[in-house]
Amino acid sequence: MSKKSKDAGRTGHDGYFARMSAALKEQGLLRPTLVIDEDRLEKNTATMLSHLPPGMACRIVVKSLPSLPLIQHTMKLTGTNHLMLFDLSFLGSVARDVPEADILFGKPMPAALAARFYDEFQGGAFNPESQVQWLIDTPQRLREYAALAETRDLHLKVNIEIDIGLHRGGISKPEDLSALLNEIDANPRLTFSGLMGYDAHVAKMPGILRGHSLKKSRQLYQAMRAVAEQHYPDRKNELTFNTAGSPTYQFHNDLTGGTEVAVGSGLVKPLDFDCDTLADHVPACFIATPVLKVEQKTKIPGIESLTGLTAFFNRKTAKAFFIYGGNWQAQPVSPSGLQTNKLYGRSSNEEMLNGSRKTALEVDDLVFLRPTQSEAVFLQFGDIAVYKEGKITQFWPVFQQDSPKLRPKTAPPAPPDSPPSNPKAQ
Ligand SMILES: Cc1ncc(COP(=O)(O)O)c(C=O)c1O
Repeated sequence: MSKKSKDAGRTGHDGYFARMSAALKEQGLLRPTLVIDEDRLEKNTATMLSHLPPGMACRIVVKSLPSLPLIQHTMKLTGTNHLMLFDLSFLGSVARDVPEADILFGKPMPAALAARFYDEFQGGAFNPESQVQWLIDTPQRLREYAALAETRDLHLKVNIEIDIGLHRGGISKPEDLSALLNEIDANPRLTFSGLMGYDAHVAKMPGILRGHSLKKSRQLYQAMRAVAEQHYPDRKNELTFNTAGSPTYQFHNDLTGGTEVAVGSGLVKPLDFDCDTLADHVPACFIATPVLKVEQKTKIPGIESLTGLTAFFNRKTAKAFFIYGGNWQAQPVSPSGLQTNKLYGRSSNEEMLNGSRKTALEVDDLVFLRPTQSEAVFLQFGDIAVYKEGKITQFWPVFQQDSPKLRPKTAPPAPPDSPPSNPKAQ
């Protein structure tokens, strides 16, 4: 039989994944690899910029693009130095390698952890006093940061988290915001730098509820912003009014609510971001991993006798492919029709994927999956392979969860005149 007739009706990769597969194989990348399509990343960034109304700034969400070169590339594409951080481990490397960054925390950091940053910060061009906005969600946390500033002799910029309907904490009443601002004013070590109100819930609302929820969250933001602007009439233009995230940034088509939107995931579009509000963004991140074994029949231990029957009733489970790794927060995407097998179970080592008899996959062929989210998944594969114009062109290291500067403190060296701690060892 000729190869052509043998392949007739078989389901393999389409042109896009066939080219990506060839590029990965050319580099010998036959292990689980996170791939970013740089052209698509650039397309998504241009799409995002095209939706922003004049004057709307954007802030890159670092947790969702957790790789320094990826962040630097995105900063260049968007022309912004505004970053939103969610992990103190990333602050050390950003302060060292992106000294021009303007940082806003997207969640409150325990004050004791913030203290560790100041203890271990080694100076340089980055100035934490003017370039970091710590997020404050309660009066208690404000007092903890005031104490931190006092004990370390620091000046801190504080941004207030407001609850505009997501109900994930933050200040929800204008009078509570006023009280916090008065407290900040009474402390010369603290400077108010703005508000952060995230509205992810709006994109999840069905039908007409969405419009209602958007209106309500916008009104709440406006009410809080009015309090802040009336409190600091001379500093109105310096303040950061941050809002939105990938699924909601397109709702912000004027500057009456926030004046900057935070965006990360939408630039690489993992599966959970396949929503109507990101319809014109394209998937730009994939997991590629090789097939290690092909079984012509899917056999489940203990019920081998049902093998033919299950394949008859569900043709998509006829063949089994064991892949290198697995059990990621991801769904198979190419060749189409692959699926995990709940009955057989998941495996992080050699996961079983099933496909129909027509699935064109042999040992050492690559399969592609789409991560459901970027923030946790990107950190699991080592360096990201960057795919551009049919080739793997670079590798981008991902952030370490705990940068060297933030490792557990070692005991300080003993003062020279103190007795040895273990005299017998001398
Ligand atoms: C405070 C805040 N802003 C913005 C975002 C949006 O991030 P992304 O664009 O990656 O969805 C998040 C996501 O968790 C967030 O917590």
